Amino acid sequence: MAFPTRVTIVDVGPRDGLQNEAIQVSTSDKLRLIHGLADAGLPVVEAASFVSPKWVPQMADAAEVMAGLTRKPGVRYPVLTPNLKGFEAAVAAGAEEVAVFAAASESFSQRNINCSIAESLDRFAPVMEAAKAKGIPVRGYVSCVLGCPYEGEIAPSAVAGVASALHRMGCFEISLGDTIGTGTPRKAQGMVEAVAKVVPLEKLAAHFHDTYGQALANLLAVLELGIATVDSSVAGLGGCPYAKGASGNVATEDVIYMLRGMGIETGVDLNRLVTVGSEICAVLGKKPVSKAGQALGAKPGKGACT
Ligand code: HMG
Ligand code: MG
Repeated sequence: MAFPTRVTIVDVGPRDGLQNEAIQVSTSDKLRLIHGLADAGLPVVEAASFVSPKWVPQMADAAEVMAGLTRKPGVRYPVLTPNLKGFEAAVAAGAEEVAVFAAASESFSQRNINCSIAESLDRFAPVMEAAKAKGIPVRGYVSCVLGCPYEGEIAPSAVAGVASALHRMGCFEISLGDTIGTGTPRKAQGMVEAVAKVVPLEKLAAHFHDTYGQALANLLAVLELGIATVDSSVAGLGGCPYAKGASGNVATEDVIYMLRGMGIETGVDLNRLVTVGSEICAVLGKKPVSKAGQALGAKPGKGACT
């Protein structure tokens, strides 16, 4: 067991962070957020999702967002695609990396993407095939890895089964989502250990929501196992429209503060990130959830957001 020396941060704020917001954020504000994150040193910025606008109205301008992107060299801008229709629209809009999303819970799968887990994997098969033909990398998400809003406890073996299926289909990385943030550190470790038996650990990412204030602790617990890719959301924005009560992802500022203090490299400029968080919070009319963001933002000249 050893902490990694470098961690790749995937900021999911523009997608996971905004998808649940009631205020329709303009395309230009979304682009400002994405560009700000890339300029702050984030190597991966999840930019949008190509889902049904009837299901998630906030993501209805995904094509416009992709069209307006000024890509920073070396930065990846993946988007979510639940089916071939979404994949084709994403590619037409210029996406160079996509993500499919499954769940470890049948009820959540039905509520989130209107099909069973097995049906979702069937829908992903043509996406994987088309992506392979075009040389587009596909990331795979598994939701509800530490609990489901409808079913409660989820067995680590169920998570491992779905993660393994996505890996076998060709996903280059599997992101393990504690969608409703009910996990605790030992449970998170047990889940990762179960998944690591069927998917190499270096291909796993931690995607923890902070509903119960456990996300940073859970993260530390799985970093200790060697996980080196972390999903987080600037200013702690986020939630899932199909997981009632789920709050935001762990805040990127808090993750960077912790990793920096531990001597773990991320390449992210924390002060610039705090400003980006303050700016999107001003658009949304809310305060950053991030504790590090609040502490640093409160200093004069650091873009306080109150
Ligand atoms: P459906 O109703 O079963 O699909 O929805 P359908 O194939 O029967 O099509 C119904 C309508 O949707 C049709 O339009 C299709 O054209 C349209 P109509 O004829 O009614 O006008 N449609 C689409 N439109 C745009 N883009 C598409 C698309 N596909 C069909 N790709 C579907 C199935 C998956 C589309 C729907 O359930 C959906 O969009 N769900 C959204 C789910 C979502 O975005 N959830 C949030 C993201 S997941 C998450 O947050 C968890 C994560 O962060 C990890 C974690 O925290 O655990 C990743
Ligand atoms: Mg999420």
